[in-house]
Amino acid sequence: MKPISFAFNQISDNIFTGGLEILSLRVIYKIMEVLIADEYGFCFGVERAVEMVEEALAEGDTVRTLGPLIHNDQEMGRLATHGVSTINAPVQIQRGETAVIRAHGVTPQVEAELREKASKVVDATCPFVTKVQKLASRAAAQDRHVVVVGNPDHPEMIGVFGYAPKHSFIVRDVAEVAALPRLKNPLVVSQTTIKLQNFYDVAEAVKAKADGETQVVNTICSATRDRQDAARSLAGEVDAFYIIGGRHSSNSRKLLAVCQEQCEKSFLIETEDEINVEDLRGARKVGLTAGASTPNWLIEKIGKRLEEIGIGLDNEMAVT
Ligand code: F3S
Repeated sequence: MKPISFAFNQISDNIFTGGLEILSLRVIYKIMEVLIADEYGFCFGVERAVEMVEEALAEGDTVRTLGPLIHNDQEMGRLATHGVSTINAPVQIQRGETAVIRAHGVTPQVEAELREKASKVVDATCPFVTKVQKLASRAAAQDRHVVVVGNPDHPEMIGVFGYAPKHSFIVRDVAEVAALPRLKNPLVVSQTTIKLQNFYDVAEAVKAKADGETQVVNTICSATRDRQDAARSLAGEVDAFYIIGGRHSSNSRKLLAVCQEQCEKSFLIETEDEINVEDLRGARKVGLTAGASTPNWLIEKIGKRLEEIGIGLDNEMAVT
C-alpha cells in the first residue's frame, strides 16, 4: 500500500526561563496517514469502456449505452453532462446515434439489432469476456456441450449463453450440476468474477457427467480478487477504512465485507460528504480502496478530503 497523504503539523512549544535557557521542548505532532491499497478502482475492462465512450464523444457522436455503462452514479452523472444517455433495449436506438455495448457484452442477436438500427456501434465488451464468448461459440460449432459456471441472471452470462444457446448450461455451483444431462465432450468455462474454488468444484462434477473428454478453461478475471487481496492485507494495519463505490455495486460491497473482517470502522461511501469526522477521531492510519467501477477523479477527491480532515483533527501525539 502507498501513503497518499501525510497530514503533518508540528507545533514547537519552547519554554524559556530567563535569558535563553530551554527548560523543555514540547513537540506536538498531528498525524493521520492515509494509505491506499495496492490495487483499487477501475479494472482494465471498465477503464477501456469509459475511454471508448470518451473517444466517441470526442468525435461528436450522440452516445447511448445499452444498460448503464458502469455501476457508479457519480461517473454516470459526469458522462451524462457530456450527453451520454442509457437505453434499455436496442429498439430505443435511433439512426444517427452511436450505440455502446458495455464491458459485460451482449448476445450476437442484440449486437445485430444494434448494428441494424444505430449509425455506429462501439463494442466495449471486455476482452476477457470476449474470450469466453469465443470459446463457447467454438465448442458449440463442434457440437460439444458448454457448462458455464456463473449467475444465469447476470448480463455477462446472458451474453455468453447467446453464443451457444443450444449447447450451453449455466450453473451456479456443484449442486446444479446434478440436474444436467450427460454431457458431450464438454467445455467448462466461468463467469469472469466468480470464486476459483467454486469453478474447480463444478469442473470436477462435470467430468463425472461427461461422455468423452472434458476441457476446463479457467476464465476468471483476477481484477476482483486482486482488489480484495490488497484490501485484506491493508485492513489489519489501519484504524478506519473507506471503500469508495456504488451501494449497488456487488464488488464494492464485497470489498466492504473483506475490510470489516479486520477493521471494525470500515465504511462504504459514494462521496466525500458521507465521511463522518467523528469516525476518524484518534485514527492514526486510514485505509482507502475503491471498487472496479469507481473513477480515479472520485478517489482523488475523497483522498484529498481525508487529508483535510487529518490536518484539522485533534489527533495529537505529544513528545516531550
Ligand atoms: Fe473485464 Fe475483469 Fe473488469 S473481466 S470488465 S477486467 S473485472
